[in-house]
Amino acid sequence: MKMIDQTLLPTVFRYVTYSTPEQVAAAIKTMVVRGAPAIGVAAAMGLALGAKRSKASRLPDLFTDLEADAALLRSTRPTAVNLFWGIDRVMKTAKAARSVRDAREAVVAEVKAMEEEDVQANRKMGRYGADLIDDGDTVLTQCNAGALATVGYGTALGVVRAAVEQGKLVKVLVPETRPALQGARLTAFELVRDRISCTLISDTAVGHMLSLGRVDKVVVGADRITKDGYVFNKIGTYQEAVLAKRHGVPFYPAAPRSTFDLVRTHDKVTIEERGAEEVVEIRGRRIAPRGIPVANPAFDMTPPELVESMITDRGLVKQPYAANIARLMS
Ligand code: MRU
Repeated sequence: MKMIDQTLLPTVFRYVTYSTPEQVAAAIKTMVVRGAPAIGVAAAMGLALGAKRSKASRLPDLFTDLEADAALLRSTRPTAVNLFWGIDRVMKTAKAARSVRDAREAVVAEVKAMEEEDVQANRKMGRYGADLIDDGDTVLTQCNAGALATVGYGTALGVVRAAVEQGKLVKVLVPETRPALQGARLTAFELVRDRISCTLISDTAVGHMLSLGRVDKVVVGADRITKDGYVFNKIGTYQEAVLAKRHGVPFYPAAPRSTFDLVRTHDKVTIEERGAEEVVEIRGRRIAPRGIPVANPAFDMTPPELVESMITDRGLVKQPYAANIARLMS
């Protein structure tokens, strides 16, 4: 399988090719590939590579090999539910097969279907979301919820792209998104490449921009939306939601069905804690004294009362979220 090495963007645009689940797991962990829908499909592809590699000639032996690969892929990142969704979907497909050969073929077909479905879902979401965007709006986002975070088109940036395709003038305010800088590196890269009007700001400028009335809508992606309506997304999203509420600006998460967790409530979700080096260094250069204790939560949680409505591929989800998520997403 082939993917863009996102750790090198925007300065270097390079594809990497993987042939084992171990390589794919390492790529997910180190964020060569990142973004909830992208890691869901990448993990599914990693499992398909495992099915191809397996020497099993009997189905139970193939399942044993696949379970080991799945466990490794599941251990990479805990927060985005799409990762588990992708792996579970491939395991279910393999288990429904009647021979090892059928299983190998079915798994590859399932991954291809997932790829196509993701782009379709993003395009649908884009159309629903674009109706919320007015001509001339400035949209504040967070992290990268664009083509790079998905198979293509994007979730939050898909909404922006769809609004632009409708002929609306849309400007995107892009916070840099420390510590991994997905905003400055990836969202900026996508928007500049697509010639969509955008301005990069430091994360610390978000409140000031909202207080000056320089933001009309907040549109972000999501890594998991729990059945009780809590939105888990890149660290910094919660402060955007609180400040948006303070300044009367609507906050919209955009997420496909694969991002909804219909099993867990918010208190059962693990927020990934990443390495200290991401905070004490910027792109490999040390900026803090040695020995300083560091906390590096990669995601935060926005409660449903701060959410104006959720943009999904099945339409808009509104309050009361628990009931409407269950109705629309089951
Ligand atoms: O740590 P990352 O870069 O994988 O986090 C990604 C995000 O938080 C995105 O906002 C999210 O996955 C949205 S998906 C299009």
